[in-house]
Amino acid sequence: MIQKGAEIAPPSGKLGILLPGMGAVSTTFIIGVLAIRRGLGEPIGSLTQLGTIRLGKRTEGRSPLIKDFVPLAGLDDLVFGGWDIFADSCYEAALRAGVLERGLIEALRPEIEQIKPWPGVFDQSYVRNLHGTHVKRGDSKMDLAEQIMEDVRHFQQEQRLARMVAIWCGSTEVFCEAQPVHASVAAFEKGLRDSDPAIAPSQVYAYALLKSGVPFANGAPNLTVDLPAFIELAREHALPIMGKDFKTGQTLMKTIIAPGLKARMLGMKGWFSTNILGNRDGEVLDDPSSFKTKEQSKKSVLEYILQPELYKNLYGNVHHVVRINYYPPHGDNKEGWDNIDIFGWLGYPMQIKVNFLCRDSILAAPLVLDLALFMDLAQRAGMSGIQEWLSFYFKSPMCAPQVYPEHDLFIQLMKLKNTLRYLRGEEQITHLGVEYYEA
Ligand SMILES: NC(=O)c1ccc[n+]([C@@H]2O[C@H](COP(=O)([O-])OP(=O)(O)OC[C@H]3O[C@@H](n4cnc5c(N)ncnc54)[C@H](O)[C@@H]3O)[C@@H](O)[C@H]2O)c1
Repeated sequence: MIQKGAEIAPPSGKLGILLPGMGAVSTTFIIGVLAIRRGLGEPIGSLTQLGTIRLGKRTEGRSPLIKDFVPLAGLDDLVFGGWDIFADSCYEAALRAGVLERGLIEALRPEIEQIKPWPGVFDQSYVRNLHGTHVKRGDSKMDLAEQIMEDVRHFQQEQRLARMVAIWCGSTEVFCEAQPVHASVAAFEKGLRDSDPAIAPSQVYAYALLKSGVPFANGAPNLTVDLPAFIELAREHALPIMGKDFKTGQTLMKTIIAPGLKARMLGMKGWFSTNILGNRDGEVLDDPSSFKTKEQSKKSVLEYILQPELYKNLYGNVHHVVRINYYPPHGDNKEGWDNIDIFGWLGYPMQIKVNFLCRDSILAAPLVLDLALFMDLAQRAGMSGIQEWLSFYFKSPMCAPQVYPEHDLFIQLMKLKNTLRYLRGEEQITHLGVEYYEA
């Protein structure tokens, strides 16, 4: 348990951000940070850079920027490294991803050409639609984990890093459930030595990074650290862990709209969501087993927000369908359609249609930045284990086994800001509004 207002170590020195998977999201994030440093763009979408936090009573008029309120690493102190199963540099990968304009990529070319991924740990049975060419070879999965640890040690020394954090931005792995090998650290380590097929590549990275003292966040829906062995490992090494699956386009919309409908006690009969996207993520999700991982993550949201067990008449029979189709002409510009069948007073039906023409990686990049900075803050503040206060950023937030995950974006934001207030010894805000009567 963290003490209210406890000492937080200052963010001095360089912060290394390690990214397993250097595709569309990672390159958009890295190039974005470099562009913002040079004044070529603004950090739109980033709570750590633009958000404010109200302190005390409304009459006090205290609303500093979050980055002035808690000691976060500055953008100038960030250094990037990562792994991929293709050897493309950050420059080449960004061109391939086709998210950012060529002019911006060229302007930063000398810097981003230097960012070259280390060979990845890969097993095609976990991502069937990719054929990696830049992969590590080893005698066992433990050997591969040790090679990752060596990459981390080398990067830290070479770049003289004070601290590091890691965020999985690799492809979505096939749907898997927890197996006995994931039940404890001891079982997992034995599994690594025996190259147990139930150990996914993302878990090899997570193990190596946590063993190296690096906090870990998972931006994809695969379980990765949402397993007892990793919760134990994080506790042993006093490290923050979190996941899963960045909450960006359609699910972001869902967690904005659904709490509003529920707040007004409007009923729902169904929610049909479909997406078309044409990036590499879309290609991976075209494989039914990777899609199943994503589908589970996207579908869990509504049930927790609507609480059908408490509101049987309103939400007891919601048909929730999620589809993703790979459609190359759209590239990274995903298009999502939602048809929501709702009902109001006396059961009269109504419909809401949402057509969101979004840019996946443009929405995800600021989340990577915020997660890196908050994860580093959590580490310096001595907060270890599952960081539920960062649920705000995830489609399937990790939580303690005895509670259900919180999906409502507004509750998540309140939890995040109240955690920051608590860390700095400020009163948590309950929005009771009694201050006017107190005077
Ligand atoms: N963009 C979004 O809005 C968003 C939202 C939620 C989740 N995600 C997830 O984030 C991840 C990254 O998305 P993206 O759009 O950048 O995808 P992408 O396909 O452009 O990039 C993923 C990269 O991971 C690499 N990779 C695959 N397996 C690897 C391994 N074992 N080791 C190292 N590298 C590996 C691929 O080669 C690729 O370069 C995906 O899992 C995606 O589902 C993205």
